[in-house]
Amino acid sequence: MAKDTVTVTNNATGQSVELPLYHGTHGPSVFDIRPMSKQLGLFTYDPGFVSTASCQSGITYIDGDEGILLYRGYPVEQLAEQSSYLEVCYLLLYGDLPSAEQMGEFQDMIMNHSMVHEGLRRFYSGFHHDAHPMAIMVGVVGALSAFYHDSLDIHDPQHREISAHRLIAKMPTIAADSYKYSIGQPFMYPDNSLGYVENYLRMMFATPSKPFEISPTVVRALELIMILHADHEQNASASTVRLASSSGANPFASISAGIGSLWGPAHGGANEAVIRMLETIESVEDVPKLVARAKDRNDKFRLMGFGHRIYKKYDPRARILRQAAHEVLAEIGAEQVPLFEIATELERIALEDEYFIERSLYPNVDFYSGIILKAIGIPLNMYTVIFTMARTVGWISQWMEMLDDPEYRIGRPRQLYVGEARRDYVPIDKR
Ligand code: ACO
Repeated sequence: MAKDTVTVTNNATGQSVELPLYHGTHGPSVFDIRPMSKQLGLFTYDPGFVSTASCQSGITYIDGDEGILLYRGYPVEQLAEQSSYLEVCYLLLYGDLPSAEQMGEFQDMIMNHSMVHEGLRRFYSGFHHDAHPMAIMVGVVGALSAFYHDSLDIHDPQHREISAHRLIAKMPTIAADSYKYSIGQPFMYPDNSLGYVENYLRMMFATPSKPFEISPTVVRALELIMILHADHEQNASASTVRLASSSGANPFASISAGIGSLWGPAHGGANEAVIRMLETIESVEDVPKLVARAKDRNDKFRLMGFGHRIYKKYDPRARILRQAAHEVLAEIGAEQVPLFEIATELERIALEDEYFIERSLYPNVDFYSGIILKAIGIPLNMYTVIFTMARTVGWISQWMEMLDDPEYRIGRPRQLYVGEARRDYVPIDKR
């Protein structure tokens, strides 16, 4: 990193401090505010951390103005077209694309860890029969720490690697089991001879009583969604994982914290919210009413699947999935065509509307992933679970990077205290 400086002056006292300015490979430069609190006794104020780099990272790069997303330097468009989800996992975890031999070994390693302990399977029966699968995911993934005492030393690189492999390998099994439990069907064991995504779909949709068949279009569509959701730098859930694990917490507990964060409707819960919203619209003619509600300042309603904290021109993942949604609907999911027509009309009206243009509100990845997941028959309450499965590798890569960073320390944001000034305790009979 090149090093310049920025001078900050406190006009009230006239005191100044020189702060190091760092330039990354791409993106805005950052200045290091640590000397400021030491020398001027000042903190910065940045609710939502919108202007703060919490770490240095070499995993994912996003340029929200230009609609660019790179994993380890590779444009996501190229990976979506030419790579597989497991290859992207290798890339994110290890930093480079694998050779054929490395890829074979990695694939075998992941698939060989796909089963979960039988004791873990018994956890499911403790959940209420209509529990949301995400509630089950938070609990069961956290519970993995009770099964792998042999690999919880986060300071041991081998422990870290085996935990990473276990999490990636078991996530589809845990996800599919959470669905099977909710519909009362028997859990399916993984079939390690299948690809990662196909194996997940089999555990979701197969039953022991009939042969399983799945269309390659469905497998490819889900693989694409998985690739596009694999990492997204320091978003709410990745930051949650980093913050949780900065205390030294084990990876299973930390990833469980990330799952909790992802569940929120402003983050990973949005694709489910998109379909729920589209299903309230009876016909294309009703779309303008929904747009009017979204623009009404007195109505808290927002168009789900529109807007993004970072992408202000377009979301590159949305562009890829928009195309994929057309292909999927042309081949399968014909009964979803009316829903897609409503979505297309909503997109058209919103993209031409001043309100959305002024605020740079474009359809985001969730808008189209929701439509594709619906078309390939994924139940609504599993959408965020699929996002969880895809993002696990991103969280783990961020976690591993953090533990290798000599600058890493326990995360501890500061605050601007605006509560009562110091006051003395008044006994209850005198209040
Ligand atoms: N519909 C209508 N108006 C919107 C929308 C929307 N979807 N999103 C933002 N706005 C408006 C806000 O009301 C605000 O208007 P104002 O300036 O008149 O007050 C302005 O746009 C800016 O909104 P912010 O909330 O400040 O934007 P922010 O960048 O903080 O929020 C977010 C981004 C949370 C994604 C927001 O656009 C939203 O709630 N979208 C809907 C939920 C969604 O699709 N989430 C998925 C995100 S992508 C992901 O997690 C993979």
